[in-house]
Amino acid sequence: GYPRGVSTFEALIAAQDRVEPRDEMPGDYRATLVRQIAQHAHSEIIGMQPEGDWITRAPSLRRKAILLAKVQDEAGHGLYLYAAAETLGVDRDDLLEALHTGRQKYSSIFNYPSLTWADVAAIGWLVDGAAIVNQVPLGRCSYGPYARAMVRICKEESFHQRQGFESLLTMSRGTPAQHAMAQDAVDRWWWPSLMMFGPPDAESPHSARSTAWGIKRFSNDTLRQRFVDLAVPQAEALGLTLPDPDLRWDEERGSWDFGTIDFTELREVVSGNGPCNEVRIGRRVAAHEDGAWVREAAAAYAAKQGTRGAA
Ligand code: 3HC
Repeated sequence: GYPRGVSTFEALIAAQDRVEPRDEMPGDYRATLVRQIAQHAHSEIIGMQPEGDWITRAPSLRRKAILLAKVQDEAGHGLYLYAAAETLGVDRDDLLEALHTGRQKYSSIFNYPSLTWADVAAIGWLVDGAAIVNQVPLGRCSYGPYARAMVRICKEESFHQRQGFESLLTMSRGTPAQHAMAQDAVDRWWWPSLMMFGPPDAESPHSARSTAWGIKRFSNDTLRQRFVDLAVPQAEALGLTLPDPDLRWDEERGSWDFGTIDFTELREVVSGNGPCNEVRIGRRVAAHEDGAWVREAAAAYAAKQGTRGAA
């Protein structure tokens, strides 16, 4: 039992307990979870495109099999997250409509092109690496269905990050041309990966409430710093350099100082002016329309099953 006079919700949050779908919750709590979980799901689905472009061009059967498994995982992450969002009373079709019409977002990182095979490795190492840093704390988020979705997603993300690192290491130790290709990919994906963590804390409109509600366990800048501290030694192990001349170890803080991030680029990409925004949404909408017959057939089949079961 919770102390009298305090709403169940406030008591759950104060006790760091889980809020479940049937618990009473403030409308704004529900709304910000729908916003974040839906956009997380959209990111997973759109995130299939940059890597999907390379499935038919993977340099070996082993790399193709790994990439197929990874892209399939991303689709699954999207579906878990849409299912988690639906526990808040929203309809998946409405969420997809919001994505297709630009009313809801997806992560800025997927608006960059995957120009060479090394990009697939850099995405695994950097983008999935950043996603792990962001998603592990979400496994302790106050909303039950979202936190539980993270448990399985984080397990699969560690495979995604490891295969990216291993592929990048292979290229870095390969021919000079392969090393150069790996370095070029890291040069292009490093700063956009830091932007994945969002605007600086001082310019983050949602952080205060998301933190008070136990949704955001660590601030944008805290997780960004955590990611940099993990990536710098890994880059050294890869024999690749990070494109930031201001990187400097700060003994006192026990962290790496890094250069200034161009947050106008993040704002530009988020507002639709990134290199690939039109392509990504165009292909998403086309896939949705081309897939309408599958949804109709599945619904008709389910209806027939339902009636047969009743007969
Ligand atoms: N790309 C697009 N939009 C971004 C963004 C980014 N990199 N960073 C912030 N934003 C948006 C926010 O969504 C918000 O806009 P909105 O009100 O329209 O939703 C606005 O910028 C202000 O940012 P805030 O920091 O105030 O917003 P949040 O408190 O929501 O923090 C977040 C942003 C850290 C991304 C948080 O939403 C979050 O943790 N989301 C869940 C994780 C997620 O979405 N990760 C996407 C990475 S891709 C991925 O995981 C796939 C993997 O398999 C590779």
